[in-house]
Amino acid sequence: MIHDSVADVLHGEAFLELHGFTPEFSTFVKLEGMNPAGSIKLKTARCLLDSAEREGLVGSGQHLIESTSGNLGIALASLCAVKGYRITLVTDPNANQRSVRHMEALGADVVVVHERDANGGYLQTRIEYIRRRLQADPTLHWLNQYASPANVLAHSTGTAGEILRGFGVPDWLFVGVGTSGTLMGCVEHFREAGAPTKIVAVDTEGSVTFGGPAGTRRIPGLGTSLRPQIFQDAGHFQKMLVPEPETIRTCRRVAREHGLLVGGSTGTVLAAVRAARDWIPPGSRVLAIAPDMGDRYLDTVYDDEWVTLRYGADALGGEPGPDSPDTPRVPALLSRP
Ligand SMILES: Cc1ncc(COP(=O)(O)O)c(C=O)c1O
Repeated sequence: MIHDSVADVLHGEAFLELHGFTPEFSTFVKLEGMNPAGSIKLKTARCLLDSAEREGLVGSGQHLIESTSGNLGIALASLCAVKGYRITLVTDPNANQRSVRHMEALGADVVVVHERDANGGYLQTRIEYIRRRLQADPTLHWLNQYASPANVLAHSTGTAGEILRGFGVPDWLFVGVGTSGTLMGCVEHFREAGAPTKIVAVDTEGSVTFGGPAGTRRIPGLGTSLRPQIFQDAGHFQKMLVPEPETIRTCRRVAREHGLLVGGSTGTVLAAVRAARDWIPPGSRVLAIAPDMGDRYLDTVYDDEWVTLRYGADALGGEPGPDSPDTPRVPALLSRP
């Protein structure tokens, strides 16, 4: 197939069964890392830009600014290169070095803020930096993925539609929560379609999005230190929190047992799937959204020294196999699915 723009090369209907991951029911992943930006955020970036253009907020030669933990930045930098927009991307020390270099190679200005905010994260610092820049230069446009309805739209029309078309109706859907755009879009679309799917929102321990206490997090993608404006909990999904060592053990295990190098968020949602297996009826079809692949995490999640120094050798995980000692570790469960 011949595409017109990098924004159109989406591969949104790639699903993979992880045979034996959960012997009692089938677990599948929706692989979102197979497009030119390497993550689900290509859809978000496209929708944020399209909507700003439609509303006449950005035009030729525009200078844009956005906060990112990495993947949205790469996707925006890619699309802005095509459209001739200048973009400043504001990130923090948790962003993978490779992601920062990737954004720069695509022509973006990258600013890394280093000061932790009141909740021990960096999101408030990133936002405050953007507000200062906007005050100093009113022609600058902030896309604001944490507040824009276009972020939700990208996944209600995109991600959720791709699932129902390409996979069918899953019995359970596990979605990681960063800005919550993916979650909100899926909840909206599945409800409108009348799908009986049980949706489970998964976040990292230490994130404040579900109302839990703030704590140190080092893996980019999921979690916030400031609840996103688009996140709304009207009781349409269950919530689970996963500690980062469990994310790491799961990523490494999936790589060794399934030959799939997954990103940190995918390890997190898959850890939640395994932890919820007592509540999932045998024979169910469970789908987990995999926002990116693991190559961006080779220097962190898949680096023995990085892991051991920060989480201890236990986080490296045991030998592959169903009876390995890391099998029964259960993430903290906020609400019983
Ligand atoms: C690595 C990673 N994890 C999780 C997510 C889910 O994010 P959101 O809640 O912002 O849709 C994303 C979004 O792109 C991501 O890139």
